[in-house]
Amino acid sequence: MCAMLAEPAAPAAAPIAPLVSVEPAVRVEGLNHFYGEGAARNQVLFDNHLEVPPGELVVMTGPSGAGKTTLLTLIGGLRSVQAGRLEVLGRDLSRLKPRDLVEVRREIGFVFQMHNLFDALTAYENVKMAMQLSHERPDTMRQRGVEILSRLGLGHRIDYKPRSLSGGERQRVAIARALVNCPHLVLADEPTAALDRDSTRIVVELLKSMTIEHDSAVIMVTHDYRIIESADRLVHMVDGRIVSDVVLHDALRICEFLRAVDLFRALTPTQLTDVAEKMKKRKYEAGETIIREGESGEEFFLISDGEVDVVRADHEVARLGRGDFFGEVALISGEPRNATVLATQPLDTFVLGKTDFQSAIESSAPFRDQLYRVYFSRH
Ligand SMILES: Nc1ncnc2c1ncn2[C@@H]1O[C@H](COP(=O)(O)OP(=O)(O)O)[C@@H](O)[C@H]1O
Ligand SMILES: [Mg+2]
Repeated sequence: MCAMLAEPAAPAAAPIAPLVSVEPAVRVEGLNHFYGEGAARNQVLFDNHLEVPPGELVVMTGPSGAGKTTLLTLIGGLRSVQAGRLEVLGRDLSRLKPRDLVEVRREIGFVFQMHNLFDALTAYENVKMAMQLSHERPDTMRQRGVEILSRLGLGHRIDYKPRSLSGGERQRVAIARALVNCPHLVLADEPTAALDRDSTRIVVELLKSMTIEHDSAVIMVTHDYRIIESADRLVHMVDGRIVSDVVLHDALRICEFLRAVDLFRALTPTQLTDVAEKMKKRKYEAGETIIREGESGEEFFLISDGEVDVVRADHEVARLGRGDFFGEVALISGEPRNATVLATQPLDTFVLGKTDFQSAIESSAPFRDQLYRVYFSRH
C-alpha cells in the first residue's frame, strides 16, 4: 500500500543508505516530433534533451504552442516516439510495443486538463478506478480513496457525482485519481488552472510531498508563480525547444540559511554561494546515528531543523539545534570522530564533504579562524 497517507514511519534504527547514483525517471535525448503528413508535415519539437531524476519537481513554462503538451504526452507514452530517444522509468519508449506502452502508462499519474471523469460514478468511484489493478480489499481501497480525497479538501464530496461538483472540485478528483497509487512519475498539464488559491496550495503541497516521501518525479506545466517557488527545476520551452533548464539548486535556499549562521558570515557572498552549491540536503529520522565516535570523519554537518545529542563515552556533552554545526573536529584534526551524534527528533541537515570543507577553509582566512575557535573549544 502506498505509504503517503499512512502514519509517519517509526524511527529507523539503521543509518540511511549511502547516496547511490540512480537512474533518471525520465531521459529525453535528441527528441523531435512532427504533426501531419506530406506537405502538411510540421515539426513541433526540435532536438530536445532533458533528464529528470527521481524525487524532482520540474516546472515547465513557455508560451502557448511551444510544445509543452506534446512533450508531456510523448513522455507519458500517449504518443509514439518518431525521432530521438526517450527513456521513462527505466524503459526505452521508442522500442516498446503498444501493449508495453500501456504498462508504462499504468505507472504514471496523469493530470491533464481534459480530466475525463466518469459522469455516472461518484468522486470515490472515479478514484477507485485507478486502484482496480492493485487487487486490494474493498475497505482498504475505500480508506485510501477517502483519505486522498479528504487531503485534497473533498472529504464532504466523496459520494458526489461530477455534475454536482464545481470545476475545481472535479479537477481535484482527477488529481486524487492520478496520485492515489503514488506513481513514480506524475505528468501534470496546468493542473491548477481551474483551482483557487487554497486548492492550488493543497495540490502543490501534495505533489511536493510525493517527491519527498516517495521519490516520485513530477513534471508540471504551469504559469503559476506560487508553484515555481516549490520547484526543484525550471524548464522553459519556446518554439519546440527547451531553451533553458535550470536546477533551482537547493543552493539558493541553503545560501539564505547560511547567511544567518555566525560561522558563515565570515565568507564573502561568492564564497558563500560556492559552499552552498556544494552542500547537500540530508534528512535523518529521530533516533538515527549521524556520526559515530571512533569512525573516520568524511563530512561536515549543519543543522537546518531539529536537534541532536552529542555523546562522548556514553555521556551527553552537548545538545545542538537549528543553525549549529558538527563534524568539523575530525576533518580538521584528521583524527577519528571524537563523539557520537544522534538525532533526537527528525533532523534536516546540510552536509559538506571533506574535500569541499577543506577548500572552504583554505579559501577564507576569516572563516578558518572562526571555525578554529570552535574547534579548539570542542577538541
Ligand atoms: N494534434 C495536433 N495536430 C497538429 N498539430 C498540433 C497538434 N497538437 C498540437 N499541435 C501543434 O503543435 C504545436 C505545439 O503544441 P502544444 O504541444 O500543444 O504546445 P503547448 O502545450 O506548449 O501550448 C503547436 O503549434 C500546435 O498547434
Ligand atoms: Mg499545452
